[in-house]
Amino acid sequence: MTAAPEHDVVDLLSADHREFDRLFRELEGLLGRTGADDLRRKRDLVDEVTIGIVKHAVAEETQVYPRVEADVDREEAERSKHEHGEAEETMKRLERMDPEDAGFDDEVRTLIREIREHVVHEEGRMFAELRRAFSSEQLTAMARDVERVKAIAPTRAHPLTPNEAGVRTVLGPVASLLDHLRDAVSGRGRHSG
Ligand SMILES: [Fe+2]
Ligand SMILES: [Fe+2]
Repeated sequence: MTAAPEHDVVDLLSADHREFDRLFRELEGLLGRTGADDLRRKRDLVDEVTIGIVKHAVAEETQVYPRVEADVDREEAERSKHEHGEAEETMKRLERMDPEDAGFDDEVRTLIREIREHVVHEEGRMFAELRRAFSSEQLTAMARDVERVKAIAPTRAHPLTPNEAGVRTVLGPVASLLDHLRDAVSGRGRHSG
């Protein structure tokens, strides 16, 4: 992913969407395969895309959706949060499964479908609205806010050390990562971590 400093928030979030799709396409090539290397790779890809989606979703929910909700399109913000919630439930089921479990591949298919549908909705409606409703300066500032939230989270699975903000973000349960990240953004994590 490129890190051009003046990307606006639509460019930035769209680049994340393309990255999720790249991981999904590799995952799709592994569905139905049961070799040891294939199973390991499926687990790694699911973990990687889960971390990416969680960071992206929390950044959107804290830095972008509230502004859409307040000033642009309440219904679209509500729908987007609901769609995040559904994908979150799928990711929680996946993290409790082993890739050799019956049903793992079906849950992967569910996650891929949920995220692809959400991306179509988001890019087709909300992103167009963002570009209409906000100036390029505002959209660039929003991109910096999104980058800041994403930087709080770990980039790899199972990091057990506190990040720069002094907040311990532990990936294991998706729920735990989500809670820690949301707390860190809101400042509540200072007391619970
Ligand atoms: Fe998104
Ligand atoms: Fe989203």
